[in-house]
Amino acid sequence: MNHNTLSMRLERVAAHVPAGARLADIGSDHAYLPVALMRRGAISSALAGEVALTPFRSAQRTVRKNGLDESITVRLASGLAALEPGDGMTAISICGMGGETIRDILDSGKARLSGQERLILQPNGGEQPLREWLMNNGYQILCEELLHEKRFYYEIIVAERAGPVMYTAEELYFGPLLMQARSPAFLLKWQRILREKQKTLVWLTQARQAVPEEKVQDVARQAQRIIELLA
Ligand SMILES: C[S@@+](CC[C@H](N)C(=O)[O-])C[C@H]1O[C@@H](n2cnc3c(N)ncnc32)[C@H](O)[C@@H]1O
Repeated sequence: MNHNTLSMRLERVAAHVPAGARLADIGSDHAYLPVALMRRGAISSALAGEVALTPFRSAQRTVRKNGLDESITVRLASGLAALEPGDGMTAISICGMGGETIRDILDSGKARLSGQERLILQPNGGEQPLREWLMNNGYQILCEELLHEKRFYYEIIVAERAGPVMYTAEELYFGPLLMQARSPAFLLKWQRILREKQKTLVWLTQARQAVPEEKVQDVARQAQRIIELLA
């Protein structure tokens, strides 16, 4: 993968960036996503934000090598601190991190959000707490995708601020649109997770003395929820 050829995962993220957007890619690493979009003429400008020095330098190199210094700014900053007043970003992508990390980035930086930006999020697990944050902050989930690449399942969640929204506990857990669509990948993912939960339950039951009852009940509840979904 490089700035010409994105992974399927980043290619699907790219598909949700509106044409002509001013994109802030937070946790950009090599800046492959903004550089590929800029080279395709799909966005008008971009910001690549990075908290760590090595990926920050790598992003700078990719941008420079492609002669895009005029249109892509690279900033060393944590989360949304990379956004500066007047940037006028219209889309923000945060990809390839745990859902809780993405939620924390959004929460600690929410004063920097205008509410006009489309959020394109690709969490690696932790989708439920991320959806909960979106709901609690008035973001409606416009699109959800699940893809299977190199043995991993990836979810992409696209959201925009829309005023009060309400999702059920099941919708927060499985994804409101994913559970409606029930794609083959979605069913396979949850069948796999159910098998894992059931294995964990057997193990926890055997080790009961050492495991708090609350933990066992929590896993049992999750397994039951998945059984009901798949029924
Ligand atoms: C696994 S990489 C993902 C890179 C790219 N977004 C992708 O999806 O392929 C995660 C990147 O996020 C960066 N990161 C983690 N926490 C961050 C934060 N709070 N602010 C900015 N970048 C962060 C890491 O330094 C790392 O380069």
